[in-house]
Amino acid sequence: MAASVCVVLFVLSATFCSALQRQSLTGEWTLEGPGLEAPLSVTVPGGIFSNLMDRDVLDNVFFGSGDADSVWVGEGDWTYNLTFTVVEELLAHRVVSLVFEGLDTFATILINGNEVGTSENMFVRYTYNIKDQLQVGENELSVQFTSAVTRAAELAEDPNNPYVIPPECPDPSYNGICHANRVRKMQASFSWDWGPAFASTGIWKDVYLEGFDNAVIDYVVATPVKDADSDTWTVFITTYLDGGEPGPIAGTITTTLDLGDDSESVSMYVEPTPNQDFEVSIGLSLNITGDRVELWWPNGYGAQPLYNLTVGFVGETEEDEKTVRVGFRTIEVVQDELEQGLSFYFKVNDHPIFAKGSNEIPVNILPEKGLDQASIKFLMQSARDVHMNMLRVWGGGVYESDYFYDLADEYGLIIWQDFMFACAMYPADDAFLSNVGGEVRHQLKRLGSHPSIALWSGNNENEGALRDNWYGTSDNFDAFKQDYIKLYVDLIQSEVAQILPNVNFVTSSPSNGLETDQEDHVAQWPGNPLYGDVHFYDYQSDSWNVGTFPIPRFSSEYGYQSMPCIESWYTATESLDDLRPDSDFLNARQHHPDGNQQNVDLINLQLQLPDSSHENYVKAFVYFSQILQAQAIKTQTEHYRSFKGRLTDDGHGNTMGALYWQLNDVWVAPTWSGIDFTGRWKMLHYQAREFFNPMLITGRLTNDDVLEIYAILDALEVPDFTIKALMHIYVWDSLEPLVAIEYPVTLDPLTAVLVTTVDAPTALASVGCGDNYEEAKKNCFFHFHLLDENNNHLVPFNHLFPEKLRNVALPSANVQIESITATDEEGYEFDVVVTTDVVALFVWLDSHRIMGTFSANGFLHVLPSRTVHFTANEATTVEALTAELTVTHLRDPAYL
Ligand SMILES: *[C@@H]1O[C@H](CO)[C@@H](O)[C@H](O)[C@H]1NC(C)=O
Ligand SMILES: *[C@@H]1O[C@H](CO)[C@@H](O)[C@H](O)[C@H]1NC(C)=O
Ligand SMILES: *[C@@H]1O[C@H](CO)[C@@H](O)[C@H](O)[C@H]1NC(C)=O
Repeated sequence: MAASVCVVLFVLSATFCSALQRQSLTGEWTLEGPGLEAPLSVTVPGGIFSNLMDRDVLDNVFFGSGDADSVWVGEGDWTYNLTFTVVEELLAHRVVSLVFEGLDTFATILINGNEVGTSENMFVRYTYNIKDQLQVGENELSVQFTSAVTRAAELAEDPNNPYVIPPECPDPSYNGICHANRVRKMQASFSWDWGPAFASTGIWKDVYLEGFDNAVIDYVVATPVKDADSDTWTVFITTYLDGGEPGPIAGTITTTLDLGDDSESVSMYVEPTPNQDFEVSIGLSLNITGDRVELWWPNGYGAQPLYNLTVGFVGETEEDEKTVRVGFRTIEVVQDELEQGLSFYFKVNDHPIFAKGSNEIPVNILPEKGLDQASIKFLMQSARDVHMNMLRVWGGGVYESDYFYDLADEYGLIIWQDFMFACAMYPADDAFLSNVGGEVRHQLKRLGSHPSIALWSGNNENEGALRDNWYGTSDNFDAFKQDYIKLYVDLIQSEVAQILPNVNFVTSSPSNGLETDQEDHVAQWPGNPLYGDVHFYDYQSDSWNVGTFPIPRFSSEYGYQSMPCIESWYTATESLDDLRPDSDFLNARQHHPDGNQQNVDLINLQLQLPDSSHENYVKAFVYFSQILQAQAIKTQTEHYRSFKGRLTDDGHGNTMGALYWQLNDVWVAPTWSGIDFTGRWKMLHYQAREFFNPMLITGRLTNDDVLEIYAILDALEVPDFTIKALMHIYVWDSLEPLVAIEYPVTLDPLTAVLVTTVDAPTALASVGCGDNYEEAKKNCFFHFHLLDENNNHLVPFNHLFPEKLRNVALPSANVQIESITATDEEGYEFDVVVTTDVVALFVWLDSHRIMGTFSANGFLHVLPSRTVHFTANEATTVEALTAELTVTHLRDPAYL
């Protein structure tokens, strides 16, 4: 029982057990590859595009045609070398591992010229036992990458392939690279409709040596599960130990949950077993009564307390330790039978949650830059600050960094986590499945403790693609279906059930949830609004009309494009003429087929763009595109929210989720994002703060010209004060409403409440907008408020335009920035007073080169004077802000 020696001595003298030894291998490496005359000194972790840009071998690939000009980089084979010193003490260990947290993607690894292993998946951790190859003193590590572009093509052309696995190549408008579905790397790095092709290569995460005699802790997965019948939590803890090579693992595992004032511990002795698998998992559980912990809640519902759980492994001669944070919450996906179909919603701590948020694409298209903590923090704060409570980490990108999920835990952002498969058929041969198996196990163990992750989804849109024959698979449907089931059900779903038995899982998004399972995993209609989640896009119909949109259980994708802000474009081009919808440049940046023309048409359906010869045409195009997008997503999101807890006569509704496409950007281009690549919030993101507000009043016009007004509350309880709704009707050329009508409101956290119905023609006629409804609709609009008994406004104002604005003779407003005042000493906080003389639409403040955010932007201005707060990212002055700040609005004379 040698193992106990250390434990006993450990108690007497904590230092006796030597820690295992870790040696970082990050820093300066040398790079060899095409076009380099001499080895280049580069930084690891990193990636080939960053490395070459940092050393000025490559111009900024995000500028101009940088994507097309740098295709050769992804086609090249690159070698990263490091010379490092090993001391005798390290080599004295039984095992010395070389650990790569991320290799992108196909590498052969050599130590002192001897091959120690290969890699083929950027989403796994690679560990090689290299003790026999190491020597005391200098050693040379060489990581030799083969182009993923080349390898993808080779894999696709393998004569042993039973059949072509489509799509072979992306749509030509993507300017992309073929055969992404053959390689386990970020699928979008071969291009997407919102992003460039940068076929990345590199050591993109941490790399280190690990010397030990006993075992290291590879992962700790801790999941609190609430007892069904009592207020008790059982924290299931699985510790994955790695002994480096087959052999006995002996020692004591101690798990300690830190509860602040006290703690709870449990220990277990692990018996040595000969012939043990080189990784063992050891389960322990802790019982915690509910009164000892605070619940974790999504953003907007409560706090996000997190508790440290530390696992120590004390072996014969050494110890290792790992800490994860746990949150005490239950999250279920409820799929109950309704009169028709099944519900689909998240219940957190037994409380139904309306999911509000967006789809996240990779933090950066260059994986190494996606680890940047400042970028991640900015995105996550931007999501939290507009009342989002859910983000979907979409399946064509990456499993994001630990920091990303740490912030999701801290900010209460529930994560819908896709596995990284999107918009394609995938192979299901043994080699591919074995490769994916390692990926799935790694990611489940790495991320399994995060309380924010609520649902894992097998893929993005592949069920729909197969059922609806997107890629010409119908002739061979049965074979592709078998492959589909092998990958997402037999492999992925089984691994999820094994490693995280308490987590929610769907095979695809969109899917019919349980109904998809019933229909043998490929439903007849994966987009059926009566089941599961739906994705919805329509670029032809009226995007500002609720009648255009489906009434699903859960909308996990919907979106419209817009142009990034002008100032952001200057990081990609010098010429504003490049932003014309028919320019070569914009066509190269626009990857969605016919997207630029669609955007012009969608705008012109609602508004009237100035003539293309107008001197401010480009500025108007950028600004109008953001209006189009913001108002369309606002209309659609409020439509979904108005169906919370509410069914139509034909069984549609009970909508409980609105995740629009897409949160962020990976380059400056016309895309569906609300935040552009430079971090500027588009009008959409500002509007999200209003349409995602926990309390909302919204109006919708039915086809019979009936105005329905709904009040919605996302909270645990109703406020304990009286609330009333207020409707104003305005004529466009006055700031005085024609009428103010109050209605009592009884909010209900479980359902959208119908405040009242109003016959729109009668209402407009009665206040003098016109007896002919066709005319009256053009003269007036509706404006809504929620007030407390003291007439304090509880929510942002809302509006409804009964007529398309292009048909309305809007008055020319005189909108001015009246004053800018500093409200702190440090130069970050400012009040901006904006005045107008008549109703002004989509009033847009732009701080140009001074980065920061406004408390409101893109708003309907119905007050003579409105104060907006500005928070600068970096300290500035009133003078500097005055010089930069501009305001525009829909009827700005600049566009007339
Ligand atoms: C990198 O390592 C390989 C394999 O050991 C070696 O052939 C090559 O010369 C090394 N390159 C440099 C620049 O050290
Ligand atoms: C923990 O609670 C569960 C369920 O209440 C019970 O079955 C189990 O015996 C308890 N375990 C311990 C160690 O108290
Ligand atoms: C968890 O541990 C970290 C690192 O020791 C510490 O900074 C943090 O305060 C701890 N959190 C709690 C809630 O105890």
